[in-house]
Amino acid sequence: MAKTLDEYAKEWQGDAEADALWVILTDSRYYGGKWNVEDFFATGDEEIERVFRFMQSRSLRVNDGCFLDFGCGVGRISKALRKRFQRGFGVDISPKTVDLARSYVKGVDFMVNQCDSLPQFPDDSVDFIYSHIVLQHIPNDYQKRYLDEFLRIVRPGGLAVFSNPDRFPQSTGEQAAFCYQGQTGNKTEISLSGRNEEMVNSAQTTPS
Ligand SMILES: C[S@@+](CC[C@H](N)C(=O)[O-])C[C@H]1O[C@@H](n2cnc3c(N)ncnc32)[C@H](O)[C@@H]1O
Repeated sequence: MAKTLDEYAKEWQGDAEADALWVILTDSRYYGGKWNVEDFFATGDEEIERVFRFMQSRSLRVNDGCFLDFGCGVGRISKALRKRFQRGFGVDISPKTVDLARSYVKGVDFMVNQCDSLPQFPDDSVDFIYSHIVLQHIPNDYQKRYLDEFLRIVRPGGLAVFSNPDRFPQSTGEQAAFCYQGQTGNKTEISLSGRNEEMVNSAQTTPS
């Protein structure tokens, strides 16, 4: 039987209590509390730098009003995004993780969310939604509900960027993602993994 969100929340909470940084970036070199915090957060800066370079190369522009980092973990990405947006929100299912995010990252509103929707966010209220290495851990039904929520809350002209769990086998280490541009519905495929600097994989824009 499929697990409930409560059960997932408990699992993530346990993982965060065991080794909060490694559970997010599972690099074998840093297993057992060996991630250096600065190095860990530098990976978020690098990732967001690549994503914005890619967006620029595809003329995908967003207002710098506010972002939502869905499945924010300890704020690895939120910290990087905060430098580019006036306001930021981070949402995660694990209270321990959210506590850590609050301690590591200032100027972002972090919140625990353990339901299958995002009721805190009104329609058309967020300029940039980002979610990396999150949806793949969530059963399909819930994924769909969160994706519906992303499309509900992204502002017209805003952008939702999220990794697509089904695009590549996990063993390749690749994280493909889709950018959805609010209102136009334009879809662009990119890679978030950074293993290929070119942001590859037949990046294309498909009008809806
Ligand atoms: C692998 S970590 C990625 C964290 C962050 N996105 C990053 O790239 O640094 C996955 C995160 O998703 C969170 N998560 C899992 N299911 C979730 C859900 N249903 N709602 C919100 N967060 C969730 C976990 O608690 C965990 O912090």
